[in-house]
Amino acid sequence: MLNERILSIQNELQIAEIESEEMLETFRLTYLSKNGVIQALFKEMGSVPPESRAEMGQKMNALKTLAQEKFQQAKSKLEGVQSDSFRAADDISIPADPTPAGSLHPLSITHRDIKQIFYRLGFTIADGPELEDDFHNFTALNFPPDHPARDMQDTFYFENGAILRTHTSAIQVRGMEKIKPPFKVIGPGKVFRVERPDATHEAAFHQLEGMVVGEDINVAQLISTMKTLLSEIFKRDVDVRLRPGFFPFVEPGFELDIACQLCGGKGCSVCKHIGWIELMPCGMVHPNVLRSGGIDPEKYSGFAFGLGLDRLVMMRYKIEDIRNLHSGDLRFSGQFV
Ligand code: DAH
Repeated sequence: MLNERILSIQNELQIAEIESEEMLETFRLTYLSKNGVIQALFKEMGSVPPESRAEMGQKMNALKTLAQEKFQQAKSKLEGVQSDSFRAADDISIPADPTPAGSLHPLSITHRDIKQIFYRLGFTIADGPELEDDFHNFTALNFPPDHPARDMQDTFYFENGAILRTHTSAIQVRGMEKIKPPFKVIGPGKVFRVERPDATHEAAFHQLEGMVVGEDINVAQLISTMKTLLSEIFKRDVDVRLRPGFFPFVEPGFELDIACQLCGGKGCSVCKHIGWIELMPCGMVHPNVLRSGGIDPEKYSGFAFGLGLDRLVMMRYKIEDIRNLHSGDLRFSGQFV
């Protein structure tokens, strides 16, 4: 009799499912309390014949241990569930799991800043395609037919004669087709050249073209615009120097260099130990260019400049290798929040 009851309680314990606090308490009362069924078995020990007592005692103890284990397991499980649901549902002061914030690429930051500066100076934005034709990239800009820049070694040509624009100066031509003087425009964009990449060269890079056309536009205005721009970008006066430079679409043409901001002009690998960086070639728009844009060079004059955006970003953030800018590596671009 007693043996059967032990077996049946053992079965009950094995299949018991405890899924709530109430069920846990019921379980405790039924099996583990003083008035529970297992304690009741112990009370019946007196009626067990002495030769079987040791065996029965063992079985009852094993039963009690089983019930205690079952109780402990269910209890810890319920506590775990409770703390999870508490976290999610009840305590709104617990900080959310951190979501990594994105950041702007240093080229985008600088691009935006420069656009703001030019907006304030009264410029508007002009645009043009990256896939250009010879006319807009070269001919209208006064490049003679045999000019070396047209060479396949500098320019990406397609079989149909289309090219990847080699400079944003093509946007000057696009601009003149659409708007009439007086105007001030900038044309930012990506440009392409057949280059072997190194610390300061990439096959795809960024320029920002500027063009101002009106009556009596002169070199002094060109220089003061360049200086305003640079001191706004670097938030201080930067040393610049102007050298004569040759470009078919300007006359006179200049190379505007700034003191290398990485080494402070002392000389380093970025400035090739010269202390100066060629940043902004510029000049007075060649009459032929105005003419091919349908503008009368007798009446109007203008200046133009081409800013190397990647170089500017490198100077601004002291980046030593242009390839970082285009690497797509978030460990790099995430540093400019
Ligand atoms: N387009 C030239 C280049 O990529 C840069 C340039 C020189 C632009 C003189 C200009 C300029 O507007 O006036 O090398």
